[in-house]
Amino acid sequence: MPNDTGFRGLADDARRAVTIHFDGQPVSAREGDSVAAALLVADYPATRITPAGGVPRGPYCMMGICFDCLVEIDGIANLQACMTPVRDGMKVRSMPGARDLGGEENG
Ligand code: FES
Repeated sequence: MPNDTGFRGLADDARRAVTIHFDGQPVSAREGDSVAAALLVADYPATRITPAGGVPRGPYCMMGICFDCLVEIDGIANLQACMTPVRDGMKVRSMPGARDLGGEENG
């Protein structure tokens, strides 16, 4: 599969294979990968849409500084994909626009 992100997995990677799901699609990764690395290797460059401008954003710094990699993981919003290791069966969702804060008092 062509990969426009330029990220590639290691050719002879002996680490255990795991599968996460991104917006319902299976993504293969290796134990120890960050969610961001797994998504970039799988050619998913964007993980969220900005609330103000409506533009796509994705992992940039890969070290917890820029917050451009925010995703929802297993129902918890605003987690940094670059700082979160993959776990087999993990459910990752992109974050389109503003986060729902819940409750009418926040609306
Ligand atoms: S890529 Fe910058 S905080 Fe995750």
